[in-house]
Amino acid sequence: MNPSRSQVTFAERRRLIDEALDRALPSEEAWPETIHRAVRYSLFAGGKRIRPLLVIAAGEAVGGRNENLMPLACAVEMIHTYSLIHDDLPAMDDDDLRRGRPTNHKVFGEATAILAGDALLTRAFHLMAETPCREPADGLRRMRAIAMLGEACGTTGLVGGQVMDMESEGRDLSAESLERLHRAKTGALLAACVRGGAILGGAGEDDMERLGDYAEAVGLAFQVVDDVLDATESAERLGKTAGKDRQARKATYVSVHGLERARSTASELLDKALAAIAPFGPRADPLAALARIIVERRS
Ligand code: IPE
Ligand code: IPE
Ligand code: MG
Ligand code: MG
Ligand code: MG
Repeated sequence: MNPSRSQVTFAERRRLIDEALDRALPSEEAWPETIHRAVRYSLFAGGKRIRPLLVIAAGEAVGGRNENLMPLACAVEMIHTYSLIHDDLPAMDDDDLRRGRPTNHKVFGEATAILAGDALLTRAFHLMAETPCREPADGLRRMRAIAMLGEACGTTGLVGGQVMDMESEGRDLSAESLERLHRAKTGALLAACVRGGAILGGAGEDDMERLGDYAEAVGLAFQVVDDVLDATESAERLGKTAGKDRQARKATYVSVHGLERARSTASELLDKALAAIAPFGPRADPLAALARIIVERRS
């Protein structure tokens, strides 16, 4: 698939994802209105939707049907949005701008922002568990995906990585520890998108392994690039405060390895990701396009 064709496809998929997210959440008028307004404020603020696109691309690469992939696609975007709302809180990164808007706590207050994050995380697992499956085999796959996603979000994944991120502020970190931090705080959820899509699509062992290698590479690359963008792009382009990592003395690929090395690491990870899915041929074109977007994006 050439880039312009995949862009069109992704735009269409983003629209379907947004429609499904809209259906999966109570309206702003539903009681209690404040929390539903707060949840929708951050969820529909214009994120890139990379994670749900990965779920669908991985599932379809192994022959999965869209209806089986959509609950997970919505769940990962809800979980991601919860992690952003909490990441921006004064107790964490203390950010005022997200997805081009004032952060959730700036608009709704800290207590509601914490609860909006809680609501999104809870709704994600609720949605995965409540959506009916047509075949018993699909139900079993759904259970496996739920378990895997739970682990990715937990203390050895996203939450653990966020703890390590906070503890590393102002400290020198070894290259090894930094990689571990990034794989946990960001890589784990991205990898769960790919692995989850593959599970729901019914991937065999060999395909699981190939997609697992792809998942690990793009998961780490995502945060390496995020670190580079924080150091090189404007707030206007990013829709979030720029130059924040240096100011907060965060341990990043830029602070530990320098800009050039961070960039070359990202491009090596892109090569790894593309090599891992080469055996799939054209079926993996959307996955290849997403890996390129992750590494070559400027926001
Ligand atoms: C930003 O994620 C937070 C990280 C994990 C680095 P994205 O860059 O995917 O943010 P949105 O969803 O497009 O806003
Ligand atoms: C956040 O990493 C990773 C999450 C789990 C939310 P960052 O703190 O670097 O994300 P941004 O730069 O604020 O989006
Ligand atoms: Mg952070
Ligand atoms: Mg942050
Ligand atoms: Mg960042």
